[in-house]
Amino acid sequence: MIRVEAYRPEMETQVDALWREAFPDDPPRNRAAVAIPAKLAFQPDLLLVATEDGAVVGTVMAGYDGHRGWLYAVAVRRSHRRRGIGRTLIGEAEERLAKIGCTKINLQVRATNEAVVGFYRDLGYAVEERISMGKAVGS
Ligand SMILES: CC(C)(COP(=O)(O)OP(=O)(O)OC[C@H]1O[C@@H](n2cnc3c(N)ncnc32)[C@H](O)[C@@H]1OP(=O)(O)O)[C@@H](O)C(=O)NCCC(=O)NCCS
Repeated sequence: MIRVEAYRPEMETQVDALWREAFPDDPPRNRAAVAIPAKLAFQPDLLLVATEDGAVVGTVMAGYDGHRGWLYAVAVRRSHRRRGIGRTLIGEAEERLAKIGCTKINLQVRATNEAVVGFYRDLGYAVEERISMGKAVGS
């Protein structure tokens, strides 16, 4: 049975493995050892993990900044895809965001990852005509 729960420290190794499998080209700042402690300092109950028989099979990291909600690190183990785990994770994140007052959720998809657009469309997300910009700050 699939369970979705808030991240616990003993999950780190498996979450790291999942993210390396799902996001092999991500920069070092997105690796578990960096991103998890940073997330645990802000809305730790919005780092959600799907498990099956105790094994980590998926994640979603959500955040609400008081204006918009955002989703990151949406990932399901390759061996467990197309079983509704991604849908379940997003549903739980949406519920938790709504509970704290969020009325609009955004997410970004890399242009090289267009295949995943079908997944989000299926869950009610629409492509919005925006130019996404970003800048790395700090050390
Ligand atoms: C995207 C991802 C999280 C989907 O997880 P999943 O557990 O396989 O998704 P679900 O089984 O809940 O899929 C729900 C529905 O979305 C759609 N869908 C899922 N994957 C899809 C794909 N690759 N292409 C098109 N539609 C897809 C289907 O309609 C599916 O329903 P169906 O299986 O009944 O047809 C998973 O493919 C993944 O981890 N990909 C690599 C990481 C990634 O790119 N993350 C997104 C970063 S923006």
